[in-house]
Amino acid sequence: MKILVTGGTGYIGSHTVVELQKKGFEVIIVDNLSNSYANVVDQIEQISGIRPAFEELDLTNTEKTNDFFNHHFDLKGIIHFAAFKAVGESVNDPLMYYRNNIGSLVNILENMKIHKIENLVFSSSCTVYGQPEILPVKEDSPILKALSPYGNTKQISEEVITETSQVSHIKAILLRYFNPIGAHESALIGELPLGIPNNLVPFITQTAIGLREQLSVFGSDYNTPDGTAIRDYIHVVDLAQAHVVAIERMIGNKGKKDVEIFNLGTGNGFSVLEVINSFEKVSHVKLNYKIVDRRAGDIEIVYADTTYANDELGWKAKKTLDEMMLSSWNWEKALAEKK
Ligand code: NAD
Ligand code: WQD
Repeated sequence: MKILVTGGTGYIGSHTVVELQKKGFEVIIVDNLSNSYANVVDQIEQISGIRPAFEELDLTNTEKTNDFFNHHFDLKGIIHFAAFKAVGESVNDPLMYYRNNIGSLVNILENMKIHKIENLVFSSSCTVYGQPEILPVKEDSPILKALSPYGNTKQISEEVITETSQVSHIKAILLRYFNPIGAHESALIGELPLGIPNNLVPFITQTAIGLREQLSVFGSDYNTPDGTAIRDYIHVVDLAQAHVVAIERMIGNKGKKDVEIFNLGTGNGFSVLEVINSFEKVSHVKLNYKIVDRRAGDIEIVYADTTYANDELGWKAKKTLDEMMLSSWNWEKALAEKK
């Protein structure tokens, strides 16, 4: 049972490789290392005792991607994580995002057609919902106009996959992640943001460890109980396990439609201040933060209705916010020890 994991040395990909290996899948990773490091393969081996195959490959390079598939066509499925994901960067350089995120997907789908590879799991995002009118948000909630080129690449990718599936043998599961945080309990793999983090949790842990002076809390005048914005944070290992369930569902032909969509969240919304409080509680570190203006483009509140994923996939996120924050903190401390 060989599975290709694109972007498998990245944050969510690396955790998914470990969970696939635990379930007995043979994994081959391709990644161009544009946002990750080759030594993640060693860390995965340290956790699981199994070294995944790894090829450095830029999936936008059509010739090299075709060549890769000519040598690796006996795949039971593909989990496609490889993409750029920085919202702000995508606003400044939209073409870089369309080329990378759409170009690599097209190359993969073309090879799936040629080599009769059936099953694709795709990393989508709750960003496709924008600010939903009805909460918690269900999978059939309207797709609103994307707020960034990055968000638009996820909307377009979902369409490209759906349209291709209609005229081919390709089946897909589109997984819409809410806010993935946390790290593996071994603290051997986790998120490695380049430069100044945009996301809340890496910014919190980097501030607490002394890499950043102060966290800015973006806005305290939202229409929420404490005035700060609310998100559905999900532990990366819970998220990774959902990918294994999804690929097993496809291999076992248990899907109800050729393209299925699932929300991956906990179903619980937490405010920025609740996240900070949880961090301070589990780390015993007082965080230096101040309230500033809202961040442009941020939505007020979003959290998932996970009923469909829970019922259909038989999967449920298990980790609490405190567990998520503790694992993020342990990862940050492990990184500091290596320096
Ligand atoms: P990541 O940057 O850690 O991992 C992505 C990996 O893909 C990196 O290792 C990068 O080197 C690789 N990559 C990028 N372009 C490539 C290319 N052209 N060829 C080969 N490899 C390439 O990001 P992540 O957080 O693990 O995200 C994985 C996926 O999940 C992405 O598609 C992202 O858009 C999506 N997603 C992430 C989040 C989040 O908050 N982390 C939320 C929703 C969706
Ligand atoms: C969470 C909350 C901020 C940083 C982004 C992408 C989205 C998806 C997930 C990929 C918000 C607040 C943050 C800080 C803060 N990624 N915050 N101070 O904005 O929900 O979503 O990541 O698909 O597409 O847009 O996540 O972690 O940036 O922010 O107060 O320094 O924390 O305002 O309320 P977000 P985030």
